[in-house]
Parts: sequence; C-alpha cells; structure tokens
Amino acid sequence: AGAGRPGSGALTFKPIPPNKLDTLVVPNGYDHSVVIRWGDEVVPGAPAFSLGRQTAAAQSKQFGYNNDFVGVLPIDRRRALLVVNHEYTNEDLMFPGFTSQDALTVEQVRVAMAAHGMSVVELERVENTGQWQPVRRGRREYNRRVTALATKFELTGPAAGSAWLRTAADPKGRTVIGTLNNCAGGVTPWGTVLSGEENFNQYFVGGDGAPEEQKPKLARYGIPTDVRHPSGSRKWERADERFDLAKHPNEANRFGWIVEIDPFDPQAKPRKHTALGRFKHEGANVIVARNGRVVAYMGDDERFDYLYKFVSDKKFMPGKSSVARRHNLTLLESGTLYVAKIEGDSPAAEIDGSGKLPADGGFGGRGRWIKLVSGNRSYVDGMTAADVLTFTRLAGDKVGATKMDRPEDVEPSLLTGKVYVALTNNSDRGKAGKAPADEANPRKSNKHGQILELVEDRGDNTAETFAWSLPIVCGDPADASTYFAGYDKTKVSPISCPDNVAFDATGNLWISTDGNALGSNDGLFATAVEGPERGHLKQFLTVPLGAETCGPFITGDNRSVFVAVQHPGEVSGASVENPASTWPDGDFAKPGVVVTWRLDGGPVGS
Ligand code: FEO
Ligand code: CA
Ligand code: CA
Ligand code: CA
Repeated sequence: AGAGRPGSGALTFKPIPPNKLDTLVVPNGYDHSVVIRWGDEVVPGAPAFSLGRQTAAAQSKQFGYNNDFVGVLPIDRRRALLVVNHEYTNEDLMFPGFTSQDALTVEQVRVAMAAHGMSVVELERVENTGQWQPVRRGRREYNRRVTALATKFELTGPAAGSAWLRTAADPKGRTVIGTLNNCAGGVTPWGTVLSGEENFNQYFVGGDGAPEEQKPKLARYGIPTDVRHPSGSRKWERADERFDLAKHPNEANRFGWIVEIDPFDPQAKPRKHTALGRFKHEGANVIVARNGRVVAYMGDDERFDYLYKFVSDKKFMPGKSSVARRHNLTLLESGTLYVAKIEGDSPAAEIDGSGKLPADGGFGGRGRWIKLVSGNRSYVDGMTAADVLTFTRLAGDKVGATKMDRPEDVEPSLLTGKVYVALTNNSDRGKAGKAPADEANPRKSNKHGQILELVEDRGDNTAETFAWSLPIVCGDPADASTYFAGYDKTKVSPISCPDNVAFDATGNLWISTDGNALGSNDGLFATAVEGPERGHLKQFLTVPLGAETCGPFITGDNRSVFVAVQHPGEVSGASVENPASTWPDGDFAKPGVVVTWRLDGGPVGS
C-alpha cells in the first residue's frame, strides 16, 4: 500500500450508488459489523439494557446515545481503545410511550444526562482481519463512561478560575460537572483524545432571568434571553437546577470548551482547556509544527461563524517516557489563539453567489490568522484574556473574522501539513441582512457545502498567513455549481453536507456527511488530495435511514474503517413503537459504531 507516501494509496474500490435503504451499505469485497451500540456494556458488570426500564445508574455504565467522534488508539497489534463521543439524545426514540420532553420523568431526564458524554472501550482484533470487537472478559481496566451527570472536569488555562466561570457549587471556577453535546474530536500525537462541546445552548433555560449585562453574551451563543422556556429545551433543569440561568447565570460559561481525556489513565480527571477558546466547538485536530509547537485547528459550527487555530507555547516532547507524557499533557494549557480572515483573489464582481467559477478557474486566495490572545495577554480592544477566551465569538466579531458556512471538522493531513475544513452548508448565505457570498463561501442559500484546503505559508503550521482554495464544492456533479478539483465530473459521486473529515495512512481524504440535501442517505466518501486523482471523489459507504455518518476513523495499519451511525431513524413522528429505522437489530433504532474491512485483508480503499 506504500503507507506514508502522500497519494500512494490509489482508491480503487467501486463506489456505491446513492440509496435510501434502511441498512448499512459497503462496497463489493468489504464486510462490516456493529462494534457496539446504545445500551451495551462499557463498564464491566453493567446491567443488561432493558427497554423502558433503563435507569440512570445503568446508563452510566452502558454505551451512551448518539455516537459521534470515533478514535481508535492502539495498545498493541491485537488490542486498542475505542473512544467515542455521545453528542445528544433522542428521547422520542429512547423511551416507549414518549409524548413530550415535559412529560419525561426526572429519572428519564437523568438517563438522558448519563447517555451524554463519552465512552472508552477496550477492543480486540478478530485474528488476521480488519474486524474489531469489544473485549468481553477480564478486568478491562480502561473501560469507562464519562457523563453529563457525574464526571468531574478540571478547567485549565488563562480563563480557569475567572469570575465568568465561578458558580455557587464551584466558587473557585475550576471544576465542572459533565460535558455537553460532544461532537467531533481528534486523537493527539501524545495519545489523548480531544472532544468538542458544541450546541451546549440547548441545555439551558432562564436566560430571561440572567443579569442584564450577561444577556448579549448568552444571546450570541444561542441562548434565548427573552423567554423562559425556549422551544426544544431539554428540560434538564427539572433534574438539576444549575441548568436554570436565572439561578446560576455562569453555568453556561462552563460549557463550549475543548475537552481532553487521557483514555490510558482512567483515574485522571478529564480537562476543559480554556486556552482554546469557547464557542460551539465542532472538534479539534492537532499537528506538531516543524518547530515542535503543537497546533490545533478548530471550527465553530454555526452559520456565519469562524475558523480558529491554537499554537502552543511549549514544544512537543517525542517518545513514550512518563516525563514526555506528563509534559505533553500540558501543551494545550497555554498558547496563542487565532481566528481566520480569508480573502479571495478574484474580483468581487466575479463571485455572484451562483457558484460559477471565477475567471482564474477556481475559488482561492490568501488568508491570515488574527491573534486574539497569547498567554494572559489579550489582543482585542476592551476585552481581557479571560473575556476573549470565554466569549470568543464576540472577540471574533470585533476583529472582523471571516463569516463562514458552518465550519465543522477541521483536520490537518499529518503527511502534508495541509488543513481541510468541512463547511457543511448555510441556508442563510446571501439572504437580506446576512453576509453575501464571498470566494470561500461562494453560493447563496448554500445547501450542499464545500471543502476548504488551507496551506500555511512556508509549510509552517505556526505561520500567521496562508493560501487557500476550495478543492470540492459539493452537490450533484450534474449541477453546474459543483466542483471536484477539475476532475471529470461524470466520474465522481454526488455529495452533500460534508461534516467530518479524516485521513487514511496514505493521505487520502475521507469525508462523512450529515443531512444529505440531495435526498439520499448520508454516507462516507474518499478522494485523493494529491496527484492526478485529486477530486476523484467516490462513495464508500451509506448509513441507514435517518442517520448521519460520524467518525470516521481509519486505523493506522489501513485495515479498518470505523464510522459512527448517529441518530438512525431520526424522522419526525417516529417513536420506539413506530420506528423509521430498525437498524441494527431489526427492532427499534439504536445508534452504534461500525467497523468495515476488506474481506481479503488488504488495505481499505485500494
Ligand atoms: Fe454536531 Fe456540527 O455537528
Ligand atoms: Ca458534526
Ligand atoms: Ca475528523
Ligand atoms: Ca452537522
């Protein structure tokens, strides 16, 4: 397979066609299995799943709901740790007889809180294959649930302990219970996992009763300040009053961070790193720059929000010694946070919102990273470092960052250092009173999204300037507003709403989708990003009805592709009794993690 050389692993699999089947579809020559699903044992001795009779105590030991990020960290050739985010819950698909959030029992609310968070599960390889399954016997000392209900997190960095983060329960502002809406993430070069707290706003009520000076800040993060109960609220305040901002106005400030968990140290408290800023974090992915500093790339998934990067003060220490490990665990605690300003190189008149390529033949240009905070020093007028880090969106507004089409997963290729951004869609682009189309976000009412490639100047990931282009403008290739790096569009798969990105061992880019606006099921795609096959996008997999495709994760030996099937059967009006999907067991829908491998044991994709 020539692992390690960019572009050396040709993607020769036969693409699968778009479909609306209630099953998981993989290419000819591949097989797949469900690794773990909602309710399965995580902590040894967890009670068996019992539909309709699940307790919060049981759920706290079982695999959570709506798996999103997937990371697989090798222990040795035979064993690995699976680390998964549980972003949110669908109570209508979890509890028989569901009528409304208001009608849930307090214990059901607590089940939902315990179904949020993360799971760490020891896996073993099925001998000589790319298939992996949970270890079912023995101590499984790493197996662990992190929940919104009970897990304590330590706040680190310049905003930890600040007035914005103090509450009645935590007067020092340094310890938070729980993590919320963990969406994408990344595996760090030092063997930990980062996880993004995304749409934390939906868990809070009482913004109308918060102090007046806090209301604009709450509102900028999507928390209503004019009504008591925003529609769609999860009603968690019924189980824990800290979710009522009229009583605890700072509690919301304790979510929206990047979380770091060390799956190899079950005793260690996971941490929330304030140095990486607070917004609707999709995730974070790290690369070690040439000078040894580590750089984390991050997106804020909201229409017209921003793209960020963090550069550490300290340098990465290679090796597996305990000294190196302890040192590297501090890398994300201090550094410099930047937000992106992105400019096109074509005349504005050529960007008409239709997606038509400008005269120079492609969307692209230059950009720069605007410094917001370095250590304890703020670079934003009228805001302290703690202000900037806690209300990072307001800092981005002040410095004129570029309003993007919902930046989701942002990930550097570890082979080339180039960075890929999934811009999922933006129905409001170009609408009255909203930002018009620009070269990086070139379509008004953008339904299908685009991929942005960012190349740091001098190949230095700590650089403050970069070049960029759009290698893929998504949609039906028959639609003139799409672009696949100039590749023959009759040979590429239709794609809509890119969400997560990942790389295989040879540097191919894998893209999963959420909310396919072309009407078929979501799925997973792959394309080369270097060489003559750049833009030859092919569909590798589709997920069952109503699901989005999360993860994805390709193991370092290139033998296994993991995806998370999130919210199967999430269709309006569906219920446990009347499911829109019966994946994976033929009864009612359960989110689950799937592994796909080649039957002949060869490298995936090729
Ligand atoms: Fe949870 Fe931005 O997707
Ligand atoms: Ca996502
Ligand atoms: Ca990713
Ligand atoms: Ca999404």
